[in-house]
Amino acid sequence: MASVLERLTAELGRSGIVLSEPGEVAAYTSDWTKKFNGEAPCVLRPHDTEEVAMCVRASAKLGLKLVPQGGNTGLVGASVPRGGEVVLSLSRLNKIEEFDAASATVQVGAGVVLEALHEDLAARGHVFPVDLGARGSCQIGGMIATNAGGIKVLRYGHMREQVLGLEVVLADGAVMSSLNKLKKNNTGLDLKHLFVGSEGMLGIITRAVLQARPAPQALQTALLALDTRDRLPDFLILLRDKLRDLSSLEMITRDSIALYKEVEPEARLPFDRPYPACVIVEEETGAGEHERDSFLERLSGILESGLAVDAVVAEGEAQAQGIWRLRDGVTEAISRAGLTHKFDVTVPPAAMPGFLAEMERFGEEAGELCTLLFGHLGDGNIHVNMMQKPGLSDEAFYAKGPALAERVYGHVAELNGSISAEHGIGIAKRAYLHHSRSAEEIEVMRGMKQLLDPDGILNPGVIFESN
Ligand code: FAD
Ligand code: MLT
Ligand code: ZN
Repeated sequence: MASVLERLTAELGRSGIVLSEPGEVAAYTSDWTKKFNGEAPCVLRPHDTEEVAMCVRASAKLGLKLVPQGGNTGLVGASVPRGGEVVLSLSRLNKIEEFDAASATVQVGAGVVLEALHEDLAARGHVFPVDLGARGSCQIGGMIATNAGGIKVLRYGHMREQVLGLEVVLADGAVMSSLNKLKKNNTGLDLKHLFVGSEGMLGIITRAVLQARPAPQALQTALLALDTRDRLPDFLILLRDKLRDLSSLEMITRDSIALYKEVEPEARLPFDRPYPACVIVEEETGAGEHERDSFLERLSGILESGLAVDAVVAEGEAQAQGIWRLRDGVTEAISRAGLTHKFDVTVPPAAMPGFLAEMERFGEEAGELCTLLFGHLGDGNIHVNMMQKPGLSDEAFYAKGPALAERVYGHVAELNGSISAEHGIGIAKRAYLHHSRSAEEIEVMRGMKQLLDPDGILNPGVIFESN
């Protein structure tokens, strides 16, 4: 009997879509966290929507399952095969197709890399206001499928808020195209929202229309040092009052900065001494000295309050990038340092000081783990990382996972938080979904899956166990 590969190749013809060299396939079967690894008979790399539809139809005909993949930077194990599925890479759909200046919208292929979109729009005096550390690899389709957040959610929202139109290939190969550019279009159910955050289990996103924005005239960036985490709620209230046009508010704690320095010894740290927490603030202002002076004055007010005790203010773009390097560097350092149990959660701001302390206690009690905390402070989104200490075997590290997750997510639920602020559920969190979603909600989600993908072809097992 012919192999999966032979049958797929026969269906798809010799159009250069199928990649099957083991060395090449390997790049698509392990994820960024190094915790999720699988095997795939091959990778499909269509060039356009029609070829995506062909791939889906051929897979359905042959009874094959598909894992859609963009930049493979997802953090919950949903972008790589688990049970021998075929990987469907959207990377070749990488055209920025049209910028419409009048509506400030941009139509893109799903495979456009975020950084390429940023660069393209910058040349047109515009920005795409979602930004995150994976910008050099993550793709628009993957970001929509995960409803990615990042460092500007505070002002502009997640991907969901930027998507005006979508083109999606459904599980039967039909193309559902709604490349809407209109701001107002109340014509029944807004179906695009079904696919935003659906993690590849309801359809394959092939194109999108996104809302761009005029570039801000100026950005004011500063790093503030806090000598306690206990007054974070008061600090937030003060910042909201003093910096009314904040576009980013990010927190990095002492231990995560220390790890960054350990992993990148040549890195220069902004303050002479370590502080319990450092906070990056970025405000969008008008151009000119007056605006700059006003920012500095308001920053002085924050320091006078005693809620922040030191500050470094960026003089120009290069210094601002230096400050941002610290934030991105922490994420990268954690990944380079080894395995980590990652918990991407939201808690109400008032609960934050207690929550941070509890996370450190949970990590300590689990033993041989180093707890690092950072995240999107302005959104109440904390990235809790409990890292493998040297000497702890991989096996022993993994064994701690389920009890730890139950404990962390149970506590998050008690605080009325969310077990996934921005990374999604994927494989990593599906056993804990009930902490954030009711049985009725999960049943409706299952119903949507059944309706749109009755044979369970698309990303099986993601968000909940396959039906
Ligand atoms: P992939 O990882 O390839 O896929 C992610 C999911 O989307 C999978 O379920 C996949 O099946 C599905 N998918 C991919 N493409 C499609 C498509 N075209 N149609 C249907 N389904 C598809 N996330 C945040 O929200 N905020 C952050 O600040 C943030 N920072 C990060 C920093 C780093 C260094 C890294 C590595 C990751 C970060 N992430 C962050 C994780 C984030 O989810 C991803 O970076 C991004 O959204 C995923 O895009 P991707 O193209 O890599 O998707
Ligand atoms: C980040 O904000 O840096 C991320 O979402 C990535 C992570 O949590 O590791
Ligand atoms: Zn994040």
